[in-house]
This record gives sequence, structure tokens and C-alpha cells, in this order.
Amino acid sequence: KEIKIFSPATVANVACGFDVLGFCLDTIGDEMVIRKTEQKGIKITKIEGYDLPFEAEKNVAGVSALAMYDALQPDCGFEIEIYKNIKPGSGIGSSSASAAGSVFGMNELLGRPLDKTKLTYYAMKGEALASQCEHADNLAPAIFGGFTLVKSASPLQILELPTPPDLFATLIHPQIEIKTSESRAILPKEIPLSNAIAQWANVGSLVHALHTSDYDLIKDALHDVVIEPYRKQLIPHFDEVKTAALQAGALGCAISGSGPSIFMLSKSKVIAQNVENAIRDVYSKTNIKFETYVSKIN
Ligand code: HSE
Repeated sequence: KEIKIFSPATVANVACGFDVLGFCLDTIGDEMVIRKTEQKGIKITKIEGYDLPFEAEKNVAGVSALAMYDALQPDCGFEIEIYKNIKPGSGIGSSSASAAGSVFGMNELLGRPLDKTKLTYYAMKGEALASQCEHADNLAPAIFGGFTLVKSASPLQILELPTPPDLFATLIHPQIEIKTSESRAILPKEIPLSNAIAQWANVGSLVHALHTSDYDLIKDALHDVVIEPYRKQLIPHFDEVKTAALQAGALGCAISGSGPSIFMLSKSKVIAQNVENAIRDVYSKTNIKFETYVSKIN
């Protein structure tokens, strides 16, 4: 018995929600095949797309699979094939897609003994291998879909948030690599109270806006005064992309996860495509290679 799955890319932080908010992209992701075997254990049998380790203990998909496998002790083993489309270090949840995919697929083949929060818990073990810290803001949307909020990492508590019907994401992925560990290391350990107040007002407002499909309030809330001022220095032409995106009608624009990808939200696919054209213009004038995407949030 085997299952073929699409393991989606995700955007963590969503401007104001550092380490807690995330959303799931509908069109970008990895493919994985998970196969039940008589021979016990976890084996990665195929990796295409990027050069990643085959040893389960050194591969994020393998580590999350092993964590779940050791806890459940099933009467079978699993083979994992990974067809990677999401470039590692791109800021759209590449490691999370792998870590989430293996546990999701195994759970399906075992008849769904675990709920989605438990799957996220085991996937966090794989994610930790890649980013050296256990955070679930990419994993939760990859496993639950749509928008999610990680209320608490320990004990793990995840809230599912609604997605307004006309909301579309545009992404630009400059082809430079930023390691999550490095872009966390440059962040200040303390923040001024005035910034904290602005940030939690925006998180609360964004959550309210998602519940009420209030696009104007989404626009007002999509600001990051805590993290962006530091991290944007790692991303070439960030300010120009942001200006171009907002002029083209985006509701907001911010760093996707730890970068270098940048995301924008727009109210309609047409606006999201206009935004895509505007940001392509910015990067076309540079010698940095890049890719752009428009995706429904799902
Ligand atoms: N919330 C994490 C960060 C996501 O921004 O460092 C990393 O993918």
C-alpha cells in the first residue's frame, strides 16, 4: 500500500506574527510517495530535485518519520520517496514540507491514529534538524491548510483561522540562500515596549480581519515593526519590491519566514498578478535570478 502526497510550501510569520502565524500555498510544493513495507524501519529510497541525505537520521523527512514511528511502534516499516520542488533555504517552508509530508503520509497508511496537532508535534522533530529550533509556524499550515496560529509550542496548541475567499498570495524568491539560523541570530533579544504594542495590536487585528473577511483591516494590520527592520538588510531590493507591490495594489508585503522570499497578499487573482508583474520589473533590472508565483491560500 502506498500514498502519493502533495506537501505544500508555506509562508511563516505573515508580517506581524513572528513564530506564530502562517499560511499554506496551493500551487507550490513537494511531492512524496510513502509506502508501507514488511521490513521494519524507515528508509528513504529516492530523492529528486535537490541533493539531500538519504540516511533517515540526517534527513528532515526521515527524522520526523522516525519520531512518529518510534512512538507508535507499528507492525510494518515505511519507504519514503521525495520529489523536491521547494528549494532549501528559500523561506517558503522547504524543510517543513518534507517533515510534514512523511508523517502525514504514514498516518494515512496507518488508518489515521493521530490528529493533526500530534502530526505537527512529530514533524517539529524533523524541522528542528534543519533550523536548530523547534518551531511550528510553517508546519501547522502545511498540515492543517489555510491560516494557522501556533498558540503555544509546548504544549503544542494550534488554532485554525479562516481564509477570506478572495485572498491571493504573490511571492518572489530571489535565488540567494539565507539560513534560518543565521537570520534568527541577527535579531535583537529585547524589543521596545512601543514596538511590542504595535505588533500585538496588528496580530489581533489581522486575526479579526481574517474572521470577518475585512480586507481593509488586513491592509492595516500587515506590518512588521519588530523583525523586518533587521532582516530586510539580508534581502536585496526589499524596499523597492515592497513599494512596487503596494503601488500595484497589494494589501501588504513582508518577508516570507526567514527570507529571502518576499510575499504579498492581494484581494483578487487579477491584483495578485499585477503585483507579480510589478515586482518582476524590480528584479529584472538586477542581475539576481528570481522566481515568482501567484497562489490561492488553501
Ligand atoms: N518563524 C521562523 C523565523 C520561520 O522567522 O525564523 C522560519 O522559517
